[in-house]
Amino acid sequence: MAEPYDLIVIGSGPGGYVCAIRASQLGLKTALVEKRSTFGGTCLNVGCIPSKALLHASELYEEVGHGFGRMGIKASPELDLKRMISFKDDGVKGNVDGVAFLVKKNKIDAYHGTGRILKAGQVEVTAGDGGRQIVEARSIVVATGSDVAKLPGIEIDEQDIVSSTGALSFPSVPERLLVVGAGVIGLELGSVWRRLGSSVTVVEYLDRILPGMDGEVAKSLERIYAKQGIAFRLGTKVVGVERSEGGLEVTLEPAKGGTQDTISADIVLVSIGRVPFTDGLGLDDIGVVRDKRGCILVNGQFETNVTGIYAIGDVIPGPMLAHKAEDEGVAVAEILAGQAGRVNHDVIPNVIYTSPEVASVGKTEEELKAEDVPYTVGKFPFLANGRAKVNKTTDGFVKVLAHAETDRILGVHIVGANASELIAEAAVIMEFSGSAEDLARTCHAHPTLSEAVKEAALAVAKRAIHM
Ligand code: FAD
Ligand code: NAI
Repeated sequence: MAEPYDLIVIGSGPGGYVCAIRASQLGLKTALVEKRSTFGGTCLNVGCIPSKALLHASELYEEVGHGFGRMGIKASPELDLKRMISFKDDGVKGNVDGVAFLVKKNKIDAYHGTGRILKAGQVEVTAGDGGRQIVEARSIVVATGSDVAKLPGIEIDEQDIVSSTGALSFPSVPERLLVVGAGVIGLELGSVWRRLGSSVTVVEYLDRILPGMDGEVAKSLERIYAKQGIAFRLGTKVVGVERSEGGLEVTLEPAKGGTQDTISADIVLVSIGRVPFTDGLGLDDIGVVRDKRGCILVNGQFETNVTGIYAIGDVIPGPMLAHKAEDEGVAVAEILAGQAGRVNHDVIPNVIYTSPEVASVGKTEEELKAEDVPYTVGKFPFLANGRAKVNKTTDGFVKVLAHAETDRILGVHIVGANASELIAEAAVIMEFSGSAEDLARTCHAHPTLSEAVKEAALAVAKRAIHM
């Protein structure tokens, strides 16, 4: 048996590896258990990083074809898909190798194998070759992430019926791609393959895209994506997929019931959400409580009902986002080191990396209405922003929601180029409980897209300058 640790982290995704690094910085003797051959979890291996590489490359491909001409640059793109996929794979390798370097540099002991908690303080690690060892520690952090939610009766083979993982590595551009679920994965990966030449249809159970996003934002995006060529079948469910000589025959039915119809496709991407992953951890044997979705329940200190066992990231309730997992990893490490680690779950930005990008932080209008909070809206379109006008990236707007009485910013929603970067200032000001007035009186460089954020804050008090 190895010598006891202060902390064993199970899972090396953004939650787990960041937790291990922070714990090590704070002087805790730390072990990290990972069943994959590489570190970085879903995010670095098959999630955030590879999808963003393909989004970047395909956006440039489309830009060369459709955007360069108007700037006086003559070019016609030719797709080398194999090369584009290896560009993505290189990016993944760079990132996972980077984490391996950080693990070593921080003197974290890595165990490659599947972790199973035998009892508080004891983890059994089973390596790929079946070899087992028991590792002991004062505390255990579960950071085992999430897995693809399955559609009953439709088996994902990662060949022609795929999850996001298969959709990151198609050997050729599918002629007809049918996406099930108009959520983040469906729209990001649907956009990638549409740009590369697929005809994309998105089937969504609800009568809107992007549930959970601000309604006005989702409505405007639906129009923009449709203009780009994505076809939507809203209020519709997929009830079956049959293989035929010509590809796949997908049977659809109105969500409320009614007449079925079929649609042909070469590939079906199932992206109807993700579920917490706890298989093989032995949680039931030791009595760790989970909710009905399978999320491990924790208190404000990220501790489960079993003393000494903690959990963070996708495996606990809350948005399944890498930066949320990372911040929870830092917080729990600090708590275990005797510090006051905490995460402000009210200020977690959410980004969709399509074109235009979409970013939001804080409350939506629908949430404020439901909570009966009095609010004022300040909106500013990129059409009136100098930089967006000259760059011809005028799709979208910034919307600031502020408390009607205190002016405190409650939510910021951005549709537009570089929204993923613009949202950071909204998050900072909200973290400091800032007001729309604070944002409006902060000098923003000209000409930048960020001036639209300032103008939207000015618009809260009906004093935008360029509208
Ligand atoms: P994970 O990253 O899932 O890591 C868990 C790790 O635990 C895995 O490596 C797994 O192998 C390991 N593990 C599981 N069980 C065991 C065990 N018993 N023993 C040992 N190891 C185990 N989020 C964003 O914020 N931005 C994005 O742009 C974004 N894009 C995404 C794109 C796609 C296609 C997908 C699928 C997800 C995306 N996400 C994005 C979500 C993001 O990947 C997750 O929120 C994030 O990875 C969660 O981190 P985690 O540490 O909780 O878990
Ligand atoms: P999602 O929860 O974003 O969207 C799933 C969609 O599928 C919803 O619109 C839902 O109504 C719909 N749906 C559910 N069941 C259905 C059915 N039977 N038929 C048709 N539609 C159905 O889930 P998604 O896109 O799979 O992504 C999973 C998670 O991964 C996200 O919630 C997010 O946390 C994370 N992610 C984050 C990204 C980012 O931050 N940019 C990128 C990709 C993933």
